[in-house]
Amino acid sequence: MFTVNNLTLQFGKRVLFDEVNLKFTHGNCYGVIGANGAGKSTFLNILTGEQDANKGTVSLEQGKRLAVLSQDHFKFDEFNVLETVIMGYKELYNIMKEKEAIYLKEDFSDADGIKASELEEQYGEMGGWNAESDAAQLLSGLGVPEHYHWAQMGDLDNKYKVRILLAQALFGNPDVLVLDEPTNDLDIQTISWLEDFLLDFKNTVIVVSHDRHFLDTVCTYVADIDFGKISLFTGNYTFWYKTSQLALSQRTDQNKKNEDKKKELQEFIQRFSANASKSKQATSRKKLLEKINLDDIQPSSRKYPAVIFTQLREAGNQLLELDQLSAKRGDEVLFNKLSLQLNKGDKVDFLYKNVSKKGKNSSKDQDDFNNKR
Ligand SMILES: Nc1ncnc2c1ncn2[C@@H]1O[C@H](COP(=O)(O)OP(=O)(O)OP(=O)(O)O)[C@@H](O)[C@H]1O
Ligand SMILES: [Mg+2]
Repeated sequence: MFTVNNLTLQFGKRVLFDEVNLKFTHGNCYGVIGANGAGKSTFLNILTGEQDANKGTVSLEQGKRLAVLSQDHFKFDEFNVLETVIMGYKELYNIMKEKEAIYLKEDFSDADGIKASELEEQYGEMGGWNAESDAAQLLSGLGVPEHYHWAQMGDLDNKYKVRILLAQALFGNPDVLVLDEPTNDLDIQTISWLEDFLLDFKNTVIVVSHDRHFLDTVCTYVADIDFGKISLFTGNYTFWYKTSQLALSQRTDQNKKNEDKKKELQEFIQRFSANASKSKQATSRKKLLEKINLDDIQPSSRKYPAVIFTQLREAGNQLLELDQLSAKRGDEVLFNKLSLQLNKGDKVDFLYKNVSKKGKNSSKDQDDFNNKR
């Protein structure tokens, strides 16, 4: 169990969190959401000990290990890729290094021999013998080709570094995995790999993401940062969004009786839990939703701005026709002889395989892209 007690943090006069109490329980995936600047990254930094709170404590059950996705893309530049991944499991990595140092000693004594065999035993118990192959497997899953596995981190493109740092966080089956916007800079195949990895992951995940599809797939709980508090809701992002919208419309509907409101919410929850069948966690999610406490559902303070176009007249059926359309940028073929017919009601998804090929490789692009999936 990972707990947060009476956590308070303010920058100057601005209070980000006030007396926050939370329990993260084993086996659940918590999606941390909130408006830009609400304090999601700050909260994660406090959980991982990178940043101090003004008040309160964060405690991880004794003997449990927490892993975090590093945001510093240059920190491991002098190490090779496999070593960087293994470093994610600090205790294992330290034993590996201590062993190596003993074997390199010129005046290797009996005491060194005893120490080395003790370390070998510990190393074996921690799964050290499979460390390299496990790390290589994670890297391949995340789309880092084998010929880069022995390369120096400093020589690699940012696109690969992000994946390697992700592999580092996932390595060695941590008890609590903390990820801040892990899908940024990943392409669609890798996001899908990560989703499957997290769905199969048996321990606790705490993840910040602006990618709704990703949150919907992996989360069993939503931790919403709003009103200087962090509130936990059972269910995934869409469930949180829909219930908070429903609660908002009910709050403004003064004439409606409390019992009617409760009934409406209850029916919504039942419908939602019946439909929550897409993921492998569907059964447990369904059980969680059945136990939900209606009084815990609060409207969100967030606004969702939108650009709305009013149609002057009803559109016809055939909206767009492309015939053998081609385009190049320099020598690079962007698309070739593209023919397409778009009818009313069709939805088009623009996919790209390699983020860097798209030109501007920004996380904003990726976010927009993911939200449109
Ligand atoms: N060291 C600091 N001193 C003062 N203010 C800070 C400091 N660190 C963060 N802040 C402010 O605290 C707020 C929360 O920042 P944080 O980065 O945690 O937000 P976030 O929810 O992760 O936002 P985003 O969705 O944009 O990543 C912001 O207004 C930020 O400017
Ligand atoms: Mg952030």
